[in-house]
Amino acid sequence: MKKLPEHFIFGGATAAYQAEGATQEDGKGAVAWDAFLKEEGRFSPNPASDFYHQYPVDIELCEKFGVNGLRLSIAWSRIFPDGVGEPNPKGIAYYHDVFKQCIEHNVIPFVTLHHFDTPKALFDQGDFLNRDNLDAFVAYAKFCFEEFTEVKHWSTFNEIYPVATNQYLLGVFPPGIHFDFSKVIMCLHNMMVAHARTVNIFKDNKYPGEIGVVHSLETKYPVSDSPEDIHAAFLEDAISIRFLLEATYLGRYTDDLLAALDEICAAQNASYDFLEADYLEMEKASHRNDFLGINHYQCHFCKAYQGPNEIYHNGTGEKGSSVYRVNGIAERIYRDDIPRTDWDWLIYPQGMYDLLVRIKKDYPHYKKIYITENGMGYKDEFEDGVILDTPRIDYLRQYLSAISDAITDGVNVEGYFLWSLMDLFSWTNGYNKRYGLFYVDFETQKRYPKESAYWYKQLSETKTII
Ligand code: BG6
Repeated sequence: MKKLPEHFIFGGATAAYQAEGATQEDGKGAVAWDAFLKEEGRFSPNPASDFYHQYPVDIELCEKFGVNGLRLSIAWSRIFPDGVGEPNPKGIAYYHDVFKQCIEHNVIPFVTLHHFDTPKALFDQGDFLNRDNLDAFVAYAKFCFEEFTEVKHWSTFNEIYPVATNQYLLGVFPPGIHFDFSKVIMCLHNMMVAHARTVNIFKDNKYPGEIGVVHSLETKYPVSDSPEDIHAAFLEDAISIRFLLEATYLGRYTDDLLAALDEICAAQNASYDFLEADYLEMEKASHRNDFLGINHYQCHFCKAYQGPNEIYHNGTGEKGSSVYRVNGIAERIYRDDIPRTDWDWLIYPQGMYDLLVRIKKDYPHYKKIYITENGMGYKDEFEDGVILDTPRIDYLRQYLSAISDAITDGVNVEGYFLWSLMDLFSWTNGYNKRYGLFYVDFETQKRYPKESAYWYKQLSETKTII
């Protein structure tokens, strides 16, 4: 039986917009999502899991079920309704109370400053494509470091790559732009610069605690041994993984990576322009990250592809409906021998192991890793108060075993945050893609532990993966 370390964190993960609801309460400012979702008309971010009011219940559940860390994000627009200017006392008081309750219940808060929810006022001015907004983010971060001194674990951003691609490639996040690789690359770079600047401010001011960034890293494999498919996987890896890890841990981009970017730009008629001064900031930060947060759910098998760009995002759970073909980079292939969820996410725990050992090998000064998200979206069935989510337990068992193997092989992983603590609102899937340890009846907001919650409690108590 595989074990996890004695002082491991068995956490649960959430995000403000997906959990809190109350999008117009107590002076919260608007975010671009409010209007975007309304226009789409598919689902509403209210009430979500009503964490804005239910947090005492959720935090008590954490304590009861051995969840000793809670990953959550601060909604920037609850603190600064327009992103800059006068802070909102009610938003500040709310988060102080959330953190206080966590601490009182032996649940360590791990706080992300930005989880897909830039205030609308700044978003409308170009979000992170607008360099002025980097200043606004850094000022907001500094305010939080000085205000929320009870927090000791900070992440700057959640998932820079999905921000850039969902906003400017897939178009499933506001502003809904498709296939604009210039914007994708500049968004990636600018957010990494904002991360570096924030880390440097945190360290220069000697704020207590630790700081890092959360990257979504989905391992890429060639679908065959052909040189073309191997190259396709190399290109996908370059833009979605190496770009972020080089920016984080080298503070610059290697020539090899820039050559891959140039190839992508040539195929996609795109360009980029990075400022020399940015590299100074990034290099300074590159040895100051206390941890790397990794969100990992799935991996991709890549096949060389030249043809029209074509992406269909499976946001309904209709298995087999996903399409991903990007000219000059890759087509993603679903293999019949690898199981996948109803949303076409491949269940391949080897991808987690390979990713972890690669980070240790390629970036030996990485210090520490937290798995900040991993879990299985599933159409849970509620029968007489019982939720038998056996496929989820099976998924968790496999991925945690891969993490345990990586730890045995010398990778320093110190915690795991299961996505999600309770069922949440999913940005592009709404409410039927459930991930929680706790089932949420979205009508009554009552919580019910799933079978996986009991399994996780036992894991947290015994550190043994059964
Ligand atoms: C991560 C995000 O990408 O994956 C979460 O950080 C998100 O916000 C989670 O909800 C699961 O994705 P989805 O699309 O299934 O909700």
